[in-house]
Amino acid sequence: MKVLFVASEAFPLVKTGGLGDVLYSLPHALRARGVDIRLVLPGYRALLRQLDEIRILGWCDVRGAEGIVSARILETRHPDFAFPLWVIDCPTLFDRAGNPYVSASGQDWPDNAERFSVFARVAALLAEDALEIGWKPAVVHAHDWQAGLVAAFLADQPERPKTVFTIHNLAYGGHFSHGDFVRLQLPGHWWSPEGVEFHGGFSMLKAGIVYADSVTTVSPTYADEICTPEFGYGLDGLLSSRRYKLHGILNGIDTKTWNPYTDPHLPAHFSAGRIQPGKRRNKQALLERFLPVVDEAALQAPLLGLVGRLVEQKGVDWVLAAMPVLLAETDARFVMLGSGQASYEQKFTRLAKQHPERVFVEIGYDEPLAHQIEAGSDLFLMPSRFEPCGLNQMYSLRYGTLPVVFRTGGLADTVVDVSEASLADGSANGFVFDTPDHEAFVAAIRRALDLYRQPAVWQRLQQTGMRQSFDWASSAGHYLSLYAF
Ligand code: ADP
Ligand code: GLC
Repeated sequence: MKVLFVASEAFPLVKTGGLGDVLYSLPHALRARGVDIRLVLPGYRALLRQLDEIRILGWCDVRGAEGIVSARILETRHPDFAFPLWVIDCPTLFDRAGNPYVSASGQDWPDNAERFSVFARVAALLAEDALEIGWKPAVVHAHDWQAGLVAAFLADQPERPKTVFTIHNLAYGGHFSHGDFVRLQLPGHWWSPEGVEFHGGFSMLKAGIVYADSVTTVSPTYADEICTPEFGYGLDGLLSSRRYKLHGILNGIDTKTWNPYTDPHLPAHFSAGRIQPGKRRNKQALLERFLPVVDEAALQAPLLGLVGRLVEQKGVDWVLAAMPVLLAETDARFVMLGSGQASYEQKFTRLAKQHPERVFVEIGYDEPLAHQIEAGSDLFLMPSRFEPCGLNQMYSLRYGTLPVVFRTGGLADTVVDVSEASLADGSANGFVFDTPDHEAFVAAIRRALDLYRQPAVWQRLQQTGMRQSFDWASSAGHYLSLYAF
């Protein structure tokens, strides 16, 4: 079976979050099950720089904002990918420094509507093999708003592949104005509340939901949540009416990249059968990165880690509210890596300055350090207000670092709260709180810190998480059956 993946990022070439990880690990899991894959990505400057063997597959002209835009389709065999990558090379739209979606100052690129409508137009042509490359997919699997228009462009085509659209995060809707819609000469019949129209403008994410044959999202709980006003971002009515084609399929993780026994970013390795001394050495190395001298007190104290985008979704304000309480009342240390909203970055930096012995902060994006924090911490803080799936809690479980999470989305589907019952049946693997505020979060951390002083129980919890399988086995099967029907 031939499947064309369409997405705006893929690890390790271009990644801003979990989307990039999934666009690496899912197509590989499917390839291992015999699927013939092509992954099409925009030709960002940072991506083109990493390619060396490039073949031009063809050229095409499509409608842009000011007239016709020309694109080249490149094919490359990258050593990290077991299948060919297709890159849409359109320098006016993608050859620029910086992030795929925002400029250096953090503003959305002003031409995002044009960038991703052109991307989707070209991807739809590839899906029909309109360039006569000689590879016609049975299924097109498009991801998030950046690829939302692909299914819409294909919907009216007589001999089109099946379309599957995955929502990785409903909070990012790809909203643009009516003026953009007109300028881009998008088909007039899309302009209706049953089509792409949304609050006076249009939404590329909505297009994917309306026009795709199947819609998926990345955990069963999130699939239910987005059908409610609380999580639906105004699309809950539409999603409820399409519940028949909406599937919640839990993400897997790449168990090779995230393996504490082999991870090349770690100073020491460990496994569920022998957690110590490896994990402790990771903790020591992590502390040494931030402290001139690491004494026994620092090593013994619980280290609470956080890696992620510093945005409201992630409950960063709850973390910031919890930290002064925990600093005053416990011996906990904090290590935090992230970037995002400037006010959050400043508050973390200030806390680190006030408590240089106990709060360690790195603002930025650092793949090796992300692995080292997962391995060297005792607890992983992930109190997201909503979380479509979340990968970091699964990485932390695999690294023997117990997650503290709010009961939502994929966090609810992967973390089992410590209770008498879950301890007795051996399912407990972390700490879950149910009330969306920082007090409940602090209470969950306190419960965790109590257990931290009971090494035998703690180790059992670590082993439960480390032995769980978060690979793609069952979820890849789920996607395969969706492709087949
Ligand atoms: P989301 O996709 O909402 O950001 P996920 O938990 O699904 O959340 O995935 C986040 C991914 O991005 C993980 O691989 C995480 O390690 C990585 N990540 C996030 N922020 C950083 C950072 N500052 N440095 C390195 N990796 C990061
Ligand atoms: C999004 C979500 C995250 C999910 C990731 C991969 O970025 O915020 O929860 O894990 O996509 O699907």
